[in-house]
Amino acid sequence: MLASKEPLLEIRDLNLEFQVQGKRIKCVRNLNLTIPNGGIVALVGESGCGKSLTARAILGLPPENASVSGEIFFKGQDLLQLSNGSFAKMRGRHLAMIFQEPMTALNPVLTCGEQVAEVLQTHTQCSFEEAKEKTCALFTQVGIPDAVRRFASYPHQLSGGLRQRVLIAMALCCDPELLLADEPTTALDSTMCQQILELLLSQSKQRGMAVLLISHDLENVRAYADMVCVMYAGSIVEQAPTHEFFLNPKHPYTEGLLLASPRRIKSSVRRLPMIKGTVPSFANMPKGCPFAPRCSCALAVCHEELPELKNVDGHFVSCHKYD
Ligand SMILES: Nc1ncnc2c1ncn2[C@@H]1O[C@H](COP(=O)(O)OP(=O)(O)OP(=O)(O)O)[C@@H](O)[C@H]1O
Ligand SMILES: [Mg+2]
Repeated sequence: MLASKEPLLEIRDLNLEFQVQGKRIKCVRNLNLTIPNGGIVALVGESGCGKSLTARAILGLPPENASVSGEIFFKGQDLLQLSNGSFAKMRGRHLAMIFQEPMTALNPVLTCGEQVAEVLQTHTQCSFEEAKEKTCALFTQVGIPDAVRRFASYPHQLSGGLRQRVLIAMALCCDPELLLADEPTTALDSTMCQQILELLLSQSKQRGMAVLLISHDLENVRAYADMVCVMYAGSIVEQAPTHEFFLNPKHPYTEGLLLASPRRIKSSVRRLPMIKGTVPSFANMPKGCPFAPRCSCALAVCHEELPELKNVDGHFVSCHKYD
């Protein structure tokens, strides 16, 4: 089903590096990723492996000290070749992002409604009254009760869940084709987390909007994504359609992540296994496969050569086990 859809976003050989004290530190390495029109692709992996940096590179907002290379085709156009002005016109209109820090993403001195209306006015040249009407309709659609009153509320007057709904309304207001949702439910309680995710993904279905869902919650990924990509130390190490991914994980790191998923504690397991060790520092990457020092099935070659991403029974996986 997914494979028949046209690609909306095609990332080829993306690299992102920092200059730190005269040293080049590569935090995203040779990343390839495709998101089809209307598809939901999940990006998972331990903290610090480069997920947010990847999303920020797609949105054209990498950290100031970063340099980005490669190609990011969006509807056939390479975003990395766009001028700042052309990119600004795309951002919010065709590509939108829900940032990982929901509490700081809203401007405290503007009302919630004004902030959404401003995005609408910037991209659609409508009057303030039209933008206000559309914002209130959108607030209702994303489950904000009493929308007209909430239009005039400042962020500090809303609960975390309502603020997150305002951010979703802002991201959806211009009907973008692609939404980058970077852990959109961090800092929310588990009931609210579920409601917000369901809202986001029902909006995606209604609007035919593609989503890059960055998440630590593998059960939500299983429920909502069409495709899963696992990132480790700046690279994608496994990618597969969701059902196949959970049924038959190939990379030892993926197996470890699935075994360590906290939801398992409810079922059969009382004590969760951990992946031993920690993610290597980008400033000090081991030779060979970056997962090798933590991998219980590492071979001699794993400590010497970086494995290539190859197709193994429909999974793309980078592991010498399959050479
Ligand atoms: N401005 C910066 N300068 C130097 N290094 C940075 C900078 N921003 C990020 N990094 C490095 O890039 C790594 C990856 O960051 P990123 O925010 O993409 O991780 P992540 O996968 O989103 O993690 P999390 O799950 O915790 O959000 C960080 O651990 C850090 O080492
Ligand atoms: Mg992050």
